[in-house]
Amino acid sequence: MYRDVSSCNSYNYGDALYWDARYIQEAGSFDWYQRYSALRPFVRRYIPTSSRVLMVGCGNAVMSEDMVKDGYEEIMNIDISSVAIEMMRRKHEHIHQLQYMQMDVKDMSFFPDESFDCVIDKGTLDSLMCGTDAPISASRMLGEVSRLLKPGGIYMLITYGDPTVRMPHLGRPVYNWKVVLYVIPRPGFQKPAGSTSSAKSYLEPVPTTEKGLLLPGFVLEDPDSHYIYICKKMDETAELGNIPAYPLTSEVL
Ligand SMILES: C[S@@+](CC[C@H](N)C(=O)[O-])C[C@H]1O[C@@H](n2cnc3c(N)ncnc32)[C@H](O)[C@@H]1O
Repeated sequence: MYRDVSSCNSYNYGDALYWDARYIQEAGSFDWYQRYSALRPFVRRYIPTSSRVLMVGCGNAVMSEDMVKDGYEEIMNIDISSVAIEMMRRKHEHIHQLQYMQMDVKDMSFFPDESFDCVIDKGTLDSLMCGTDAPISASRMLGEVSRLLKPGGIYMLITYGDPTVRMPHLGRPVYNWKVVLYVIPRPGFQKPAGSTSSAKSYLEPVPTTEKGLLLPGFVLEDPDSHYIYICKKMDETAELGNIPAYPLTSEVL
């Protein structure tokens, strides 16, 4: 299994004490990688608002709050940092759609099997991939995610990790996930002069090889793009390739 250290600034990203200290220092809110406004087309496309959602490694991001403003009815937020969880619980005590629990994503035994329609992960698998024992941590985390998803449920991973470092984990047959990939530029990325691609093209899945890798010759407009992996837990009896998505209506876009 792969451990990608290319974008790890710190080996402490897998460590609760590191995150506690960071959240004490940086009170307020911060969304890693992308904000909800940019992710909304994907979230609305794959996750009905009535879904029971688990946000893993919520930190102090505004994402869950924005989802509730957009109509999402039930979001359970977990994080290994008790500092982040206490802060967020206090901040959102009046929002009944949001719940918070301090929990390690590698052991979510508090929740019974098939508890959630959707698990959203923005930067948490990435943190584990930077920590010690990265492949073992990733496998424990993804095993738990798989256990908690209902058949047909979606694990939405927003990450800097390209398919060469993420597909060896996501593509393990034991999960039986059908993976669809999107690539979006960093916020604020300026297209090179003369580029012809339109913003709408980011909303189309990227063609991949059988192993889920980018096709040879695929060019990233932004070399530091973010990747969105939509992993659908296939019903054992369902046919692979049959991945229903919610239409991209003008309301969603
Ligand atoms: C890169 S931050 C992303 C925070 C938030 N999802 C966002 O998008 O801004 C990673 C988060 O994962 C949490 N985390 C790291 N290891 C974890 C673990 N084993 N279990 C649960 N949360 C963890 C950290 O406390 C931190 O809040």
